[in-house]
Amino acid sequence: MPTVTKAVIPAAGWGTRFLPFSKSVPKEMLPLVDRPAIQYIVEEAVAAGIDDVLAVVSPHKKAIEDHFDRSKELEAVLEAGGKDDELAEIRALADLVELHSVRQGEALGLGHAVGMARRHVGDNAFAVLLGDDMMHPDSPLLRDMIRATETTGRSTIALMRVPKQDISLYGSAAVEPIEGEESLVTVTGLVEKPPADEAPSDLAVIGRYVFTPDIFDHIERTPPGRGGEIQLTDAMASLADDAGVNGIVFETGRYDVGNKTDYVRAVLELALERDDLRDDVLAVVTDIARREGLLSGGDSA
Ligand code: G1P
Repeated sequence: MPTVTKAVIPAAGWGTRFLPFSKSVPKEMLPLVDRPAIQYIVEEAVAAGIDDVLAVVSPHKKAIEDHFDRSKELEAVLEAGGKDDELAEIRALADLVELHSVRQGEALGLGHAVGMARRHVGDNAFAVLLGDDMMHPDSPLLRDMIRATETTGRSTIALMRVPKQDISLYGSAAVEPIEGEESLVTVTGLVEKPPADEAPSDLAVIGRYVFTPDIFDHIERTPPGRGGEIQLTDAMASLADDAGVNGIVFETGRYDVGNKTDYVRAVLELALERDDLRDDVLAVVTDIARREGLLSGGDSA
């Protein structure tokens, strides 16, 4: 049975939903308080047992590689300034994981991006984490998915119920229950971003996948699909027909940080969980709510 120690993070997109920010800064570097989104993603992978991450990047994504690299210059400045806590944090970041990168020269789709990892991943099961989907640090999702693949030998994808009218933003899955299992299901069909009235279900594919290496053959056989792109969902549908794919249905802990409102929610919720920020941020939020007439207690502006 496979063990999963490698992860792939596709990070080559333009992030058009976050323009103009993403014009010159990779959207994966969007700060969630004081850490870029991709740091949370890498930390999630490490917490689930991953020790080797391959980022699939485009030429304008150097900031991502720099973020996880050593910076002797910055370390020297922090050391000279006696900033020991910051120094320890910056060093730990560089030691977090073995980060590799490969360039996706052409933007041919998510399936193509994952296919770029073939040589690095080799004949191993591996995880894929999409940067737009951020999981709360306490979420057991990825760990549960890895365990599922390690015990069943099948690829495992993450599924979440969404309002039916939103399903056209996602891959949609048809599933069947597995006897004796609560959240693990068999995937019987997958469609990328179907119109709501044609979707097989309201179960959306969320950006966490654990694949067996046979996904690569299916990606290579996948013709361009929706939007003229090589869709990962189409390759997964083919894998499901061939070798079987499981899904884990989960409910909580996900932020869609590619969506502006959910991004702001992520920043606020993460800040409220930090001892150094909670009281001040709560005061700001309370003040805004009062000003907006959502709380009694008068206009404090
Ligand atoms: C991608 C996938 C889609 C999946 C989604 C999850 O779409 O193609 O199947 O449901 O991620 O976030 P994107 O959001 O990159 O357009």
